[in-house]
Amino acid sequence: MGRPACSMEGVVMGFWKDKRVLITGDTGFKGSWLTLWLQEQGAEVFGLSLSPSSSPSLFNLLFADPHFSHRGDIRNADEVLNCFQRIQPEIVFHLAAQSLVKPSYTDPAGTFSTNVMGTVHVLEAIKATPSVKTALIVSSDKCYEPSTYHHAFVETDAMGGHDPYSASKGCTELVASAYIHSFFHSQGPNIVTGRAGNVIGGGDWSADRLIPDIVRAVHEKKPLVIRNPNYVRPWQHVLDLTQGYVTLVQQAWENQIERGSSWNFGPLDRIDTTVKDVVDHALNGLIHHSSIPVTFKPAEFSENPYLALNASKSHQYLKWTPKLSVKTALSWTFEWYDTFYKHNDIVAFTKKQLQDYWTLA
Ligand SMILES: NC(=O)c1ccc[n+]([C@@H]2O[C@H](COP(=O)([O-])OP(=O)(O)OC[C@H]3O[C@@H](n4cnc5c(N)ncnc54)[C@H](O)[C@@H]3O)[C@@H](O)[C@H]2O)c1
Repeated sequence: MGRPACSMEGVVMGFWKDKRVLITGDTGFKGSWLTLWLQEQGAEVFGLSLSPSSSPSLFNLLFADPHFSHRGDIRNADEVLNCFQRIQPEIVFHLAAQSLVKPSYTDPAGTFSTNVMGTVHVLEAIKATPSVKTALIVSSDKCYEPSTYHHAFVETDAMGGHDPYSASKGCTELVASAYIHSFFHSQGPNIVTGRAGNVIGGGDWSADRLIPDIVRAVHEKKPLVIRNPNYVRPWQHVLDLTQGYVTLVQQAWENQIERGSSWNFGPLDRIDTTVKDVVDHALNGLIHHSSIPVTFKPAEFSENPYLALNASKSHQYLKWTPKLSVKTALSWTFEWYDTFYKHNDIVAFTKKQLQDYWTLA
């Protein structure tokens, strides 16, 4: 597959060629797309993750020979350090996490251990590995102290979180901030953090996420049970977010942005899209065979009913602009699943979506 023929907004062509990049969480949904993106741009990508947890798994579908990807647990400081010392990365994307709200209620200690101490171990390894010039620590829109009114969070808002997952992501940010201020304030690697909302795209089979739940119900012809239909989330396509991440890291590498800064990525237009809107889009035309019963039920656990991010800082300073509206993002997502379930060549189709995205950009 060809590389993009022209430069994308904020991303100079050729930057990634031969860069040594370590992605923690490369076997996950976002990590798989990011790995493919960077490999296609000529980077030498390495991974540090647990084995893929879903079946099917995007990672296993895309990478037939994943020799670049190391199995290791970020809760184990020695494993993380050994991995960094073997690989000697120049750039680190830290995505590995217990990434779901519901399991954080059944295993809060495990969630904090992975998301908080795991981040400490990654930052310690960065501190001990002089080859690292830039790192992105990924958290979430849920890192912010929940607001009682309809507020689109800005980067200077307080960290918080009322459930274990959200609090663990607030802590991820606080840990990163403490390391940045204590060890990387004026020297060493430029470490930045990225906060994004609900990411959609092909290849996510996580439990208890809306798109995978819809896809599973349609494919297995089972009733679709949806919680919290009126909740608002900042949906965006995984390729828009990946573009945000790589643009941010490149500008941090080139010291074009403030050291140690934090960045929101989300839709720029303030359209409140609810869970029910997404389900309606999906079942009214995007998916064939969509005549499945849908039940809306209240959540079994507490979640923030309104989450919106103000991404104008990323738009203004990184020149990052999402290219796919929610509607288009949903079309691309369900086209991907249609292709997969029709047993068409999913690697070729995923690369085609990447190429189409680069053409848009
Ligand atoms: N997908 C979303 O909508 C979304 C929204 C906001 C934030 N995020 C954040 O983005 C990041 C990636 O999300 P995702 O959707 O790709 O998640 P995912 O669950 O698909 O992938 C998680 C990755 O982390 C790895 N991991 C988990 N525990 C680990 C451990 N103890 N040691 C080593 N690796 C471990 C897994 O192996 C996997 O590679 C996470 O930090 C998540 O919290 C995701």
